[in-house]
Amino acid sequence: MEPGLRKSRRDFLNYLLGFGFIGWLISVLYPVIKYIIPPKLPEAKIKSVKLGKVDDFKPGTGTIFKFGNKPGLLLRLENGEFRAFSAVCTHLDCTVQYREDMKAIWCACHNGKYDLNGRNISGPPPRPLEQFRVIIRGDEIYVTKEA
Ligand code: FES
Repeated sequence: MEPGLRKSRRDFLNYLLGFGFIGWLISVLYPVIKYIIPPKLPEAKIKSVKLGKVDDFKPGTGTIFKFGNKPGLLLRLENGEFRAFSAVCTHLDCTVQYREDMKAIWCACHNGKYDLNGRNISGPPPRPLEQFRVIIRGDEIYVTKEA
């Protein structure tokens, strides 16, 4: 066999092995990368949720509820007034909660604090909580995003 022909056959086999290796590498890395970086799911387009009856919520309490795929916080103040906010902290998206002892909305992640109007008053949160509108129809409570 001629040396030039042998060399080209060897080159061909090397290319074949190289492409095979690259194909194997892609078939291993692609699912790993797709697992690490999942696709973004579209946010559920919920504009209003029914939370229950007025009497289900005692004055001076806070209740976490589901608003689409995010948490919300319904407050019933001592005077009986209702307020609702997104329960997603404006710092790094932890879920906030009502702290009866502080009379404030509190984020456990970095000790962020909001007043009962949702305004950020201490800690790292940079912005107020998103406020929702509370509608009472009969004795049922609805929370809506519409103005
Ligand atoms: S995520 Fe709420 S204070 Fe940092």
